[in-house]
Amino acid sequence: MKLAIGADHGGFTLKETVKAHLIERGFEVEDCGTFDEKSVNYAPIAKKVADKIVGGECERGILICGTGIGMSMAANKVKGIRAAHCGDCFCAKYTRLHNDANILCMGARITGAGLALEIVDLFVDTEFEGGRHIARIAEIADIENGKL
Ligand code: RB5
Repeated sequence: MKLAIGADHGGFTLKETVKAHLIERGFEVEDCGTFDEKSVNYAPIAKKVADKIVGGECERGILICGTGIGMSMAANKVKGIRAAHCGDCFCAKYTRLHNDANILCMGARITGAGLALEIVDLFVDTEFEGGRHIARIAEIADIENGKL
């Protein structure tokens, strides 16, 4: 699976940890920045990662900022993105099973590296359950398309 990853200055250090972990696990990781701790705005980085997903270049994405909130707000503006802000393992598992989330957002000022890596593993290892959830996520797309 090819993954896209991005962070602002608040998430830079955790991004590096997550990226190294994913590469170690054998994933191909496209790093959309930022590449140091200099202050940068989060929305353009969220857009870069989101575009890799909707464009089909990467299957899933991970976005990290201070809280994870700005990244999730920005990513969810892109049509076709279902970005889930997760700070625990239960949400990471169920947002894949039930929501088919294609981007995971985390807050580096909230979630420590140990927990973040467990969240990331659940996000990349858990497959969408389908079934009754297909119609439910289709209604999210209906909102995007003005049908709901
Ligand atoms: C940057 O200071 C901070 O606002 C950002 O990383 C993020 O938490 C925004 O939602």
